[in-house]
Amino acid sequence: MKAFILEQPGDIENLRLTDLPMPAISAEDVLVKVKAISINPVDMKTRRGKSLYGELQKDPPVILGWDISGEVEEVGSDVRNFQKGDEVFGMVNFPGHGKAYAEYVAAPAAHLVRKPAGISHQEAAATTLAALTAWQVLVPQARLQKGQRVLIHAAAGGVGHFAVQIAKHLGAYVIGTASASNASFLKALGVDEPVDYKSVDFESAVQKVDLVLDAIGGDNITRSMEVLKQGGRLITIAGHIDEEKEKQAQAKNIRAERYVVHSSGEDMQQLVNLLQAGKLKPHISQEYPFEALPEAHYQIETGKTRGKLIVNI
Ligand SMILES: NC(=O)c1ccc[n+]([C@@H]2O[C@H](COP(=O)([O-])OP(=O)(O)OC[C@H]3O[C@@H](n4cnc5c(N)ncnc54)[C@H](OP(=O)(O)O)[C@@H]3O)[C@@H](O)[C@H]2O)c1
Repeated sequence: MKAFILEQPGDIENLRLTDLPMPAISAEDVLVKVKAISINPVDMKTRRGKSLYGELQKDPPVILGWDISGEVEEVGSDVRNFQKGDEVFGMVNFPGHGKAYAEYVAAPAAHLVRKPAGISHQEAAATTLAALTAWQVLVPQARLQKGQRVLIHAAAGGVGHFAVQIAKHLGAYVIGTASASNASFLKALGVDEPVDYKSVDFESAVQKVDLVLDAIGGDNITRSMEVLKQGGRLITIAGHIDEEKEKQAQAKNIRAERYVVHSSGEDMQQLVNLLQAGKLKPHISQEYPFEALPEAHYQIETGKTRGKLIVNI
């Protein structure tokens, strides 16, 4: 089968399309013939030798990618809920070795869900790591409630555009940061109050927030603490809460924490329910043929991607 391997950490030239043996499946796995995959910033960070690279290099060859949609080719002996020919999608083995940049992927059945007929493989592949992150942060982690005020940073990005839709579905008042060129996109997603982070210091424009979803990290975390109510909560997916930030949070009587998404077929089912109800719609800004996958890394690296990038196989 064809697959992109990462020969060594670094630039996109280190992603090489090659022929590999078909992956072996264990008793709990499903072999998926991949139709579409999605690209995330973690792919690019890991390619550069950061993020999950240390883990992945223990199990060579390194094959990046976690988000797939495709068709079941074969099932392991213990798999009862899928059979050959089923259309499935999900985020495979995160945080671990997903090996999604390939024509075939061995995926634990517990990480997958059935793709609804009215949803394309591209839309399904888009609604994986970024959407799961938004769901897990806002629902099981933060338990966002109707009427609460939430500030979503990078609201036009992969995670942000899903988080806006989920927060609106929950009945929250949504404030979202993006540059001015994305203001109408944010409005169309349902954002109540778009804030252009380039022309305004968001901490002077926004107040009395119950929850901040930070997708930027660094100084953005400290600045976001200014907008929270007493007893409010900040969840960062892009930075770290070091001792100093912990002290700042305590002094303001707020909670600050880091969250990392994990594979979950059960959470994927919640996303399927929202997709089917028309409450969640992925925005795909660009599609690439498999051979052009490295170009998608160039795009994600700009930090300016709107919604999701899809690679078709
Ligand atoms: N911990 C986890 O489990 C987890 C899971 C998913 C993602 N992440 C991390 O979260 C971050 C976001 O992921 P993503 O997939 O949403 O990335 P993305 O799709 O690449 O985000 C791009 C968006 O970020 C916006 N943006 C850039 N700088 C901004 C700023 N200073 N303020 C507000 N918006 C800004 C851009 O909007 P403009 O073009 O309008 O500037 C663009 O639409 C990444 O660092 C990723 O690695 C972590």
